[in-house]
Amino acid sequence: EKGGFDTFMEKEIFDQPDAVRDTLLGRTDSEGRLALDEIRISEDGLKNIDRITIVACGTAAYAGMVAKYALEHWTRIPVEVALAHEFRYCDPIVSERTLVVSISQSGETMDTLMAVKHARDLGANTLSICNTHGATIPRESDAVLYTHAGPEIAVASTKAFLAQITACYVLGLYLAQLRGGTYADDAKKVMTELQEMPAKIDELLGHLDRVREIARFMADTRSVLFLGRNVGYPIAMEGALKLKELAYIHAEGFAAGELKHGPIALIDAGQPVFIVVPGPDTPHGLHGKVVSNIQEIRARGARTLVIAEEGDEAVVPFADEVIRIPKSAPLLAPLLAIVPLQVFSLELSTAKGLDVDQPRNLAKSVTVE
Ligand code: M6R
Repeated sequence: EKGGFDTFMEKEIFDQPDAVRDTLLGRTDSEGRLALDEIRISEDGLKNIDRITIVACGTAAYAGMVAKYALEHWTRIPVEVALAHEFRYCDPIVSERTLVVSISQSGETMDTLMAVKHARDLGANTLSICNTHGATIPRESDAVLYTHAGPEIAVASTKAFLAQITACYVLGLYLAQLRGGTYADDAKKVMTELQEMPAKIDELLGHLDRVREIARFMADTRSVLFLGRNVGYPIAMEGALKLKELAYIHAEGFAAGELKHGPIALIDAGQPVFIVVPGPDTPHGLHGKVVSNIQEIRARGARTLVIAEEGDEAVVPFADEVIRIPKSAPLLAPLLAIVPLQVFSLELSTAKGLDVDQPRNLAKSVTVE
């Protein structure tokens, strides 16, 4: 069942082009307009939404953080991302005009389920993004948008993450189309760009030998930092989570803009830092700002492991290693940028002789609060 791979996790990493492709399948009509028949909340109900709250845990919450950037950009609806266990017990502000979107691979995570039930009791519309048909969370929700990643066996989530982000994009584009406004016309164009992503992920998966090599040399590393900005910020967090889970190494993800507000004090000679660089086309000059961050930490001795788009030469002078990802629309780049970080953790865990599929102390689905 591992399809010729040594571990489920590796197989699932290589399943990712299909996970994205299958999650996009059947979501447009013959004219390329999004048609989400499975969402059982009325169109009028969705048009009236004035706030979206995403509830999830772990990797699914990082998918939610990526979604926030895309949903707000395309729909102009304010989006909040809450860890489900925090949301449930903090007296959340929800009304019948709030859409509470839960994200869960298993659909059985108790923290997320309790948040959904609480939101429903408070009168919110609840939509579940879930990878498991007929699971409890979708059953307890008003509507469901299934991710089609296929069963995920490894405890560390990989393909479900990409499928969750994809489903969130689809939801955002659907809401933009439904509500009209500036980005409604863009929905088709972005869908086309999204449909090109599986081939790009495939291509990327064929070029990760150097990442594996870097990981094998780092088996004795005690701490790794991850920096990202905008949609790269949750990718930095997710990269750090993968390393903690799989290799039991201290890892922390930061928003690159926070560096000078504290974390830069951690940088000393030889400290490995992954930097997820926004593509040069990212609005607001964010690319240049992150390149400056790389320069700053390199000057303080950091070992800079840079994830950057093909053709981005600006990073080269400050990078100890450049890991290339294919060019893509800035908001869609997380589907690529996370892949080398998954492979890095997988390889480092293997190099340490650890159980990749079944890390210590963890369960695939956490069914207690
Ligand atoms: O099944 P869920 O998506 O609700 O699970 C949520 C988290 O428990 C899960 O993503 C966890 O963080 C993974 N072990 C991450 O690799």
